Amino acid sequence: MNNIPLVDLKAQYRSIKDEIDTAMAQVMANTAFIMGKAVSEFEAGFAAYARAKHAVGVSNGTEALMLAYQVAGLKAGDEVITTPHTFMATVSAFAHMRIKPVFVDIDPVTYNIDPERIEAAITPATKAIVPVHLYGQPANMTAISALAQKHGLLIIEDAAQAHGAAWDGQPVGTWGLLTAFSFYPGKNLGAAGDAGGVITNDDALARQVRLLLNHGSEDKYTHTAIGYNARMDGLQGAVLGVKLRHIQRWTEQRRANAAYYDQQLAELTHVVTPKADPRAYHVYHLYVIQVPSQRDACLKFLHERGIGAGIHYPIPLHLQPALAHFGYKAGDFPVTEALAKRIISLPLYPELTHEQMDYIVQTLREFAF
Ligand SMILES: Cc1ncc(COP(=O)(O)O)c(C=O)c1O
Repeated sequence: MNNIPLVDLKAQYRSIKDEIDTAMAQVMANTAFIMGKAVSEFEAGFAAYARAKHAVGVSNGTEALMLAYQVAGLKAGDEVITTPHTFMATVSAFAHMRIKPVFVDIDPVTYNIDPERIEAAITPATKAIVPVHLYGQPANMTAISALAQKHGLLIIEDAAQAHGAAWDGQPVGTWGLLTAFSFYPGKNLGAAGDAGGVITNDDALARQVRLLLNHGSEDKYTHTAIGYNARMDGLQGAVLGVKLRHIQRWTEQRRANAAYYDQQLAELTHVVTPKADPRAYHVYHLYVIQVPSQRDACLKFLHERGIGAGIHYPIPLHLQPALAHFGYKAGDFPVTEALAKRIISLPLYPELTHEQMDYIVQTLREFAF
């Protein structure tokens, strides 16, 4: 067996081809290419799924974050506390606004921001905390909410990797003032191109997001704000609307596959499997193992045997060249830095078979010898 991709979008398409083709053909026939009925139907469906009052479709997850930060009132000179162990967009979306990222090291078990370290990072300029529910595991929202309340800080969640996840029985996206999702094709709920969304329970903020994403205009050619073009395509709305019908089943399959990996990898002493916090409903966007020694050789070994493993992410954000002007240096966040050198993301998707996982586990076993 070879060629097991990190994510198999073809397998997913094959499993729902008729539904997708029909939904896309409808958009082609009614030519509602920008926003329109398919998008508003998806928004209503996603709001219900995420248990939020409003869901607003956006052009991608990065724009969703930018709009959320902006309508939350963040401004140049503010400081925002977040994790250095995330995708660049979490921070680039506010660094554009001359807002300073204040990084806090991660918990070595969950790989999410360590709430115990947040308080020491708060200054008079701190305005918000941005927890990232990385790999599909929610951050510790009980602790983060308590800190935000105590210090009068906003919470804006980056749930790009965590559709349907929950902390202590409460869905991600309902803890913060606003939450951004990505529907990038490889995400748990993925479009056929770029797409994203913002959810909130606040009527006025939802309206502001809608206003800004469409050139600051509610009535055509009257612009009450200087906005952007961050609209969702009709075709993406149609595809996402179809996939929303399947997301719960896919999530259960991801969780079952993760449990199978956990079980099969348990005997491999050179591999550390991911740990879900007992309060987390983890949706396993990624299944990330640690290989404490010879990680790069292990990754090469997997690639040579046709396994599409990856690294999410090899360079922590505080060490990214584009963020160098914020003055961070190697050694600032030892837990994150050590983890970045050890992690490997194994293929994980709902359609992955036991046979494929057995092959991946066997390959990892062989690497040890
Ligand atoms: C944690 C995180 N935040 C933000 C984004 C940005 O989303 P998008 O690629 O849809 O712009 C992504 C995905 O790429 C992500 O993984």
